[in-house]
Amino acid sequence: MNASSEPVLSVEDLSVRIAGLHILQGVSFEVAPTGVTVLLGRNGVGKTTTLRAIVGLTPRGGEVRGSVRMGARSLLARPTHRLVRDGLGYVPEDRCVFAALTVAENLRLAERRGVTPAYDKVFALFPELERRGRQRAGSLSGGQQQMLAIGRVLLNDNRLLLVDEPTKGLAPKVVTEVAEVLERVAESVPVLLVEQNLAVVRRLATDAVVLSAGQVAWTGDARELLLETALTKSLLGVGSGSGEVHA
Ligand SMILES: Nc1ncnc2c1ncn2[C@@H]1O[C@H](COP(=O)(O)OP(=O)(O)O)[C@@H](O)[C@H]1O
Ligand SMILES: [Mg+2]
Repeated sequence: MNASSEPVLSVEDLSVRIAGLHILQGVSFEVAPTGVTVLLGRNGVGKTTTLRAIVGLTPRGGEVRGSVRMGARSLLARPTHRLVRDGLGYVPEDRCVFAALTVAENLRLAERRGVTPAYDKVFALFPELERRGRQRAGSLSGGQQQMLAIGRVLLNDNRLLLVDEPTKGLAPKVVTEVAEVLERVAESVPVLLVEQNLAVVRRLATDAVVLSAGQVAWTGDARELLLETALTKSLLGVGSGSGEVHA
């Protein structure tokens, strides 16, 4: 991270307990104001729990402690819709598009009062969303649904995007398309990205945060991490030389 620039997000000593389980145990990291910070770690280490805590979507009954700040603003006590209005964009792991509605209806539902929706920008990034406006979202391919989930968030102005495993379960060609789109998006807004595909990580990541069993195991320059084959193998369970899918 550039030492002279303030982080866009600061997470400090974040702890989450759900159903008696201490899932996050004092997680601290920062998100740089430019580029893509990847949040890495094996399945079940707490990546999604971290993003959900940041946006205020911890399951009911869950207990969240610590501090999350976006600039001067403290996020943890604010309801999710306020955070979204403040410019926190969230693309969840399961995409959550409304299957029974059309593409255009899904986009319309994401419009925020008082903000002119940036349809030009979204359709320039995803021409297919414009062409398929009248198609039901449930009949889109997985890749198209992911584009819709990302495009929906980009209708609004964002200070930071949180994106959870956008390439999961997609065909290699579509993985490449999603990576290209995220690369373009990251030119104008910083991204905190959860991503298991190391080829995508290698292509996009500027900074990296690695979680292990609910704690931060490593933070720093993403390229440095990827050069440490033994480290990535122990932390992620994969060798950084093996691009499972080519992006
Ligand atoms: N709603 C929940 N209730 C109980 N346990 C949960 C809940 N959500 C997540 N967990 C547990 O918390 C741990 C971290 O989950 P998660 O954040 O989804 O991991 P990741 O995204 O890194 O794969 C896992 O062991 C998971 O089973
Ligand atoms: Mg997850």
